[in-house]
Amino acid sequence: MKKLTAPDEVLYHVGFSAASLNGAKWALLPGDPGRVERLANACGPAEYIACHREYTSWLTNIDGEWVLVCSTGMGGPSVAICLEELACMGIKGVIRVGTTGGIQEKINLGDIIINKSAVRLDGTSLHYAPKSFPAVGSFTITKALVQAAVELRIPHHVGISVSSDTFWPGQERYDSFNGYVRKEFQGTLKEWQALGALNYEMETSALFVAAQCIGIKAGSVCGVIARRTESEQVAPIGIYELAEERFQKVVYRALQILLKTGV
Ligand code: URA
Repeated sequence: MKKLTAPDEVLYHVGFSAASLNGAKWALLPGDPGRVERLANACGPAEYIACHREYTSWLTNIDGEWVLVCSTGMGGPSVAICLEELACMGIKGVIRVGTTGGIQEKINLGDIIINKSAVRLDGTSLHYAPKSFPAVGSFTITKALVQAAVELRIPHHVGISVSSDTFWPGQERYDSFNGYVRKEFQGTLKEWQALGALNYEMETSALFVAAQCIGIKAGSVCGVIARRTESEQVAPIGIYELAEERFQKVVYRALQILLKTGV
């Protein structure tokens, strides 16, 4: 049974009601609340909706259709909460727009990674489906993201993400406060590289599994801000801006394609 909310019912976590969506069926989901306004304005004429907890929400208008831009905060739990409430307000397709650390030599800072699937190194997705269930993105959304990156000639890679609940131990980073990485995670960076995974980030597996279980479509695109083949650090100033400029262009074009074909 699907539960759609009344148009004027303000949802507890995101802090707005379906009436604010102007009929939007698509949402862009950056992690960082600070990125929402810029992303909304990069896609079209934009309007502020609400700001509650980690969820900052704007609307943007792409070719005459309203699209929600809503931050999710970091990690699986807040992504799943956001997804549940957006689904109740009639959102049918979402695209995560994030940052990531590349783990293959061929991946450079500022490149774009389109994740078609993800390793479930998170806890949230287990609340939706057993570990053996795959975390896979929507084929239609992934295809549109790839088409957009190709058309725009933006350097990009398509493949598997490793979605970790932690930035340090789960991504085998030793530059944490105490430098400790559990035995279970020692050597995992090498293993993911050998298995051909492309990147580390913190949200895609929870998003893909929850979206599949809820019954909405999801895709994921990230800009590379760390090159884990040479450093544990995130990139110097300038790279973030390059990655942001590129993922803004890619999701804008991808949504133009998707809005034409429908959710
Ligand atoms: N986000 C992550 O989760 N890891 C990185 O290395 C960079 C961004």
